[in-house]
Amino acid sequence: MIDFKKITTGLAFCSLMIGFSTNSLAQNARIKIDLDRKIGEVDKKIYGNFVEHLGRCVYGGIYDPGNPLSDENGFRLDVLEAVKGLNVSLTRYPGGNFVSNYNWKDGVGSKEDRPTRLELAWSRLESNQFGTNEFMDYAKLMNTEPYFAVNLGTGSILEAQQWVEYTNVESGPYYAELRKKHGYEKPHNIKYWSLGNEMDGPWQMGHLSAEDYAKKAREAGKLMKLTDPSIKLVAAGSSNFYPGANPMHWNRVVIDELKDVVDYLALHMYVGNVEDNYYAFVASPLVLEERTHLVKGMIDEAMTRANRKGKDPIYIAWDEYNIWYRWRSSETMSGDIALEERYNLEDALVIASFLNAFIRNADVVKIANMAQLVNVIAPIFTNEEGLFLQTIYHPLALFAQYAHGTALDVFVDSETYNTGDFALGLGEQRADLKNVPYLDVSATVNGDEVIINVVNRHKDKAITTDILAFEGEFSGDFEVFEVNGPDIKAMNDFGKTTVETKSKSLKGKGDKVTYAFPAHSYTMIRAKIK
Ligand code: AHR
Repeated sequence: MIDFKKITTGLAFCSLMIGFSTNSLAQNARIKIDLDRKIGEVDKKIYGNFVEHLGRCVYGGIYDPGNPLSDENGFRLDVLEAVKGLNVSLTRYPGGNFVSNYNWKDGVGSKEDRPTRLELAWSRLESNQFGTNEFMDYAKLMNTEPYFAVNLGTGSILEAQQWVEYTNVESGPYYAELRKKHGYEKPHNIKYWSLGNEMDGPWQMGHLSAEDYAKKAREAGKLMKLTDPSIKLVAAGSSNFYPGANPMHWNRVVIDELKDVVDYLALHMYVGNVEDNYYAFVASPLVLEERTHLVKGMIDEAMTRANRKGKDPIYIAWDEYNIWYRWRSSETMSGDIALEERYNLEDALVIASFLNAFIRNADVVKIANMAQLVNVIAPIFTNEEGLFLQTIYHPLALFAQYAHGTALDVFVDSETYNTGDFALGLGEQRADLKNVPYLDVSATVNGDEVIINVVNRHKDKAITTDILAFEGEFSGDFEVFEVNGPDIKAMNDFGKTTVETKSKSLKGKGDKVTYAFPAHSYTMIRAKIK
C-alpha cells in the first residue's frame, strides 16, 4: 500500500463535486488512482458461470422443450437473452457434485436411446436428454468458452480420455468418428478441463485423500493431454473450511504433486448471512481474498521447484462462488426446488465485493465462475411463463461488460469497522475481521478508460469521497452506474424490479473529483484520465 501523504504532495487539486446523494453524508474517504501501479491483466475468464445438471438449471432453465418460449432445439429464448446480458466468458459444465457420478456417454447420440439414471449427488433422475452436444450448441448461442469437468469420482481415467477424444479429435479414432456420426463433423475443441470436482469432500462420490487424488488426477491429465496436448488442466483444490477439515494440507499436496502438470487450481466459496449480521456478511468476500493469498503463497513456493518449461505458473480458478445458505439441498426427489435461492440487495453487494477481490488479485485469479447460471443459486430465475433478474445479476453484468484491461492497485482511505466473530456460511468456520473499510474498491485501466468499482458497505450513510488522479486529469465525462434499492433486504420477483442498475452521465474536469457513494450501494464509475 502506498503512503497517501507522500504521493499527494505537489498535486494541484481541482475540487469538483460530480455527484450527490440523498442520504445524509457521514464520512469522508479518499480513493487514489495511480495508472503506474499495475497488478496484472484482468483475464476475461473471471466473468464465467456454471451450468450443472441440478434442479432447474438445465431442465426448466436453459432447456425447456415444448415450452412456447423455447426454440426448436428446446432452448428457452428469453433465458438466452438474459444470459447474453451477462457476457459469460467461460461456462463450466456439467457439474459440480453431479459430475462425480456422470458418464458422458449416456448423454450423446439419439435422444430416444439415452438412459435415465438415478443421479445420486442430488437425489434425482437424470434423463440425459441434454448432454455434450446440446451444451456445445448452447455455448455457441451464448458466445461462451466451454469448460468441462471430468468424473474422477466413480469415473475412470479412460472415460476422461475418451471424452477428450470425442470432443477434440478431428477424425480417426472411434470416439471422434462417433461424434461425427452424431452430426458434429468438426471437433468442439474444448480447451479447459477440470480434473474432478471437490474431491476433498466426504460428500463427493468417490472422495479421495489428497495423495490418492493427486495420483489419479495426474494419470487422467496425462491421458487427456496425450489425446489433445493443447488443453489446459484445472486441479481440484480445497476451500472447504468445515470443522475438522484440513484444506491447506490438501492444497499443499495437490500443488506439490501436480506442479509440473496442471495450469490452474480450483477453489470454491459460498457465504451466507446465517446470523443476520449485515456488516459481517458484506465483509465476507475478504475471507476469499485471504484464502487467495494463502494459496498464492503455496503456488509461488512450488513454482520455484517446478519444471514448467516456459509455461505460465499455476493460476487460481475460483470456479464456484456465490451466496448459498437458504436452500441447501434438493429438498425433494423431483429436485424442483433445489437450491433456488432468492437474492436481495445485500447479496448483490457481496457479489460486487467478490468481483472486486478477483480484480485486486488479477495476477493470480485467472478464472472465476459464479455458481450457477439459472434457477439454482442463480442470477436468472424462471417459471414456465417467463423470468426475472435477481439482484446479483446486476453487478455481474456491469463488471463483465466494462471491467477489463489492467487491474490497478488502488489506494483507499476510508473509515473501518470490526466484524467480531461470525459464521461465514452454513457449516463453515467462523471469521473475525478487523479494520474492514466501509468502501470496498477495485479499478481497471483499458487504454485511457478507467473503471472504478466501489461498494459502500455502510448501511445508513453515504460516504463523500475524493477520487484523485495521481498523474493526468479526469477528462470531463463520467458515466456512473449504481446498483441499489430501498433497503438491504430489497428483492426482485416476477413482475417486480426493486433492485437494478441505474445510470447517469456527469461532467467534471480536474485531478480530483468528489463523489458521494450512497449507503448500501455498488457504484461503477467510467472515466477517462488523460
Ligand atoms: O453449486 C452447487 C454445488 O456446490 C456443486 O455441485 C458442488 O461442487 C458444490 O459443493
